Amino acid sequence: MRKVVLLLIFVLSFSLFAQEKEKKKGPSPFTSPKNLKVLPSEGLQATMQGYRAALGVMCTYCHVQGDFANDEHPKKVIARNMIRMLGDINSRFPDGKAHVSCYTCHRGEAEPKMTPPAAQ
Ligand code: HEC
Ligand code: HEC
Repeated sequence: MRKVVLLLIFVLSFSLFAQEKEKKKGPSPFTSPKNLKVLPSEGLQATMQGYRAALGVMCTYCHVQGDFANDEHPKKVIARNMIRMLGDINSRFPDGKAHVSCYTCHRGEAEPKMTPPAAQ
C-alpha cells in the first residue's frame, strides 16, 4: 500500500512538473498564425529559418520583439513585398519550376551586392 502511495506521488509530481514546463515555454508562435497575407501556414517555421539564413539576420531584424503578427516593423513590410516579387520571378521560368530563392540574391546578406568586387 505504501509503495502504491509513493508511486502515485511520484507520478503526480512528474506530471505537475511537465505542466509547469509547458507553461514556461508558452505555445509555439507557429501553431496559430494570425496575420499571414502571402505565405501558407504549412512549413512556416522552416520558411522563417530560411529567411534568417538567407539574409544572415536574427528574427528581430524583421519582427517586433515578442510579437510576430505585428506589421509595424518596416523590414517585415519590405520582406512581404520581396516574397511577392519572388513569386512573380519564379512564375516566369519556362519549365514552371521555382529556380530563385531569397538566397539567390541575398547570399547571407541583408543588402545584396549590385556589382562584383573590383578585379585584383
Ligand atoms: C526577412 C524578414 C523575416 C525574418 C528574418 C523572419 N521573419 Fe517571420 N515573417 C516575415 C514576414 C514578411 C511574415 C508575414 C508573412 C505573410 O504575411 O504571409 C512573417 C510571419 C511570421 C510569423 C506569423 C505571425 C502571425 O501570427 O501572423 C511568425 C510566427 C514568424 N514570422 C516567426 C519568425 C521567426 C521565429 C523568425 C526567426 C527564426 C522569423 N520569423 C524571421 C518576415 C521575416
Ligand atoms: C531578385 C533579387 C532578390 C530576391 C530574390 C530577394 N531579394 Fe530581398 N532585396 C534585394 C535587393 C537588391 C535589396 C536591396 C534593395 C534596397 O536597398 O532598396 C533587397 C532588400 C531586402 C530587404 C531589406 C534589407 C534592408 O536592410 O533594408 C529585406 C528584408 C529583404 N530583401 C528580404 C527578402 C526576402 C525575405 C526574400 C525572399 C522571399 C528576398 N528578399 C528575395 C533583392 C532580392
